[in-house]
Amino acid sequence: MTQNEYILVTGGAGYIGSHTVVELIQNGKTPVIVDDFRNAVPSILTGIEKIVEQSVICHQIDVCDHQAMLSVFEKYNFEGIIHFAAYKAVGESVQEPLKYYNNNLRGLLVCLTLAEEFEVHNFLFSSSCTVYGSPENSPVVTEESPVLEASSPYGATKQMCERILSDLSNSDSKIKVLNLRYFNPIGAHSSSLIGELPTGEPNNLLPYVTQTALGILDELTVYGNDYNTVDGTCVRDFIHVSDLADAHVKGLDWLTKQTGSFNEVINVGTGEGASVLEIIHTFEKVSNQQLNWKFGERRTGDVEQIYADVAKAKKLLNWSTERSMEDAVRDAWNWEQKWRNETTDNS
Ligand code: WQD
Repeated sequence: MTQNEYILVTGGAGYIGSHTVVELIQNGKTPVIVDDFRNAVPSILTGIEKIVEQSVICHQIDVCDHQAMLSVFEKYNFEGIIHFAAYKAVGESVQEPLKYYNNNLRGLLVCLTLAEEFEVHNFLFSSSCTVYGSPENSPVVTEESPVLEASSPYGATKQMCERILSDLSNSDSKIKVLNLRYFNPIGAHSSSLIGELPTGEPNNLLPYVTQTALGILDELTVYGNDYNTVDGTCVRDFIHVSDLADAHVKGLDWLTKQTGSFNEVINVGTGEGASVLEIIHTFEKVSNQQLNWKFGERRTGDVEQIYADVAKAKKLLNWSTERSMEDAVRDAWNWEQKWRNETTDNS
């Protein structure tokens, strides 16, 4: 193993992190996961290892723990860093802003301080379409669309982290930064060996759908049907998590080939909008069962509609999505059922 093929993946046992670790390994890289499992479980590592048929390096460390992170940088000569580790629940961030500012900002600052010290110049940051706020003119946002005031502390931390990275790249640092702005990741690996942890109250739409379908939740509430959209419900850009993972591998390859310090931003979505009702109808089609749902009041902070212009990802990374929304909903449903069966068997 040449020394510099290691890739630091903070939050690598998480939802997007674990799928990215699989794609990195299957593309010849050696990820080193740093995760303290506050939002992950060790069985995800087992799932990754079953998919890639090899062991995975993982250090159970809080990314904000400078001393512990120093020991990791001293142990491996990293070719690059993919920084996922952060809290990401929009609603929770409104209730607990300090928890979000503390963790999301300090985690990035520890990583960047050590990246500078150990001259790791390829830095890929997990950003979010949340930075666009509610698009004023068109629901289709490009990377040049205005970054509006964040609608939550979570979104504000993503904007602040992008600013920190931009300021660093404009200094005499040699860092090369790629901010990937995700839209709505959904689904699970086609093997059903890894997926979005369905523990506790879900944060996002699809886990609500699959848990309602299994009877864990009584009924899905569709938050608002009076929006100015195709069917009155909100519109999002729902992207299969494995397509999102592929974008990270392509992004890292692109980063390592660039010379000179820079700070780039790329949208990662399908480029198509889909409504909440379309997700429900797709679920009922792939699961061949009726979902128990009702219309409810709008959810505070929701954006009416937003989806990605993905021309830049195609041009710079030669990347675009390969999986359909139906694939994502089917993979999410298969994962949820497998997880519940195994958890019930083991309880
Ligand atoms: C989607 C739509 C809800 C649950 C997420 C992440 C954020 C960022 C963008 C990555 C909304 C509706 C939901 C339910 C519903 N991703 N909904 N009933 O708010 O777009 O943000 O993606 O960084 O981190 O939070 O996603 O899945 O919560 O909601 O009607 O029970 O589904 O109102 O219109 P959101 P979401």
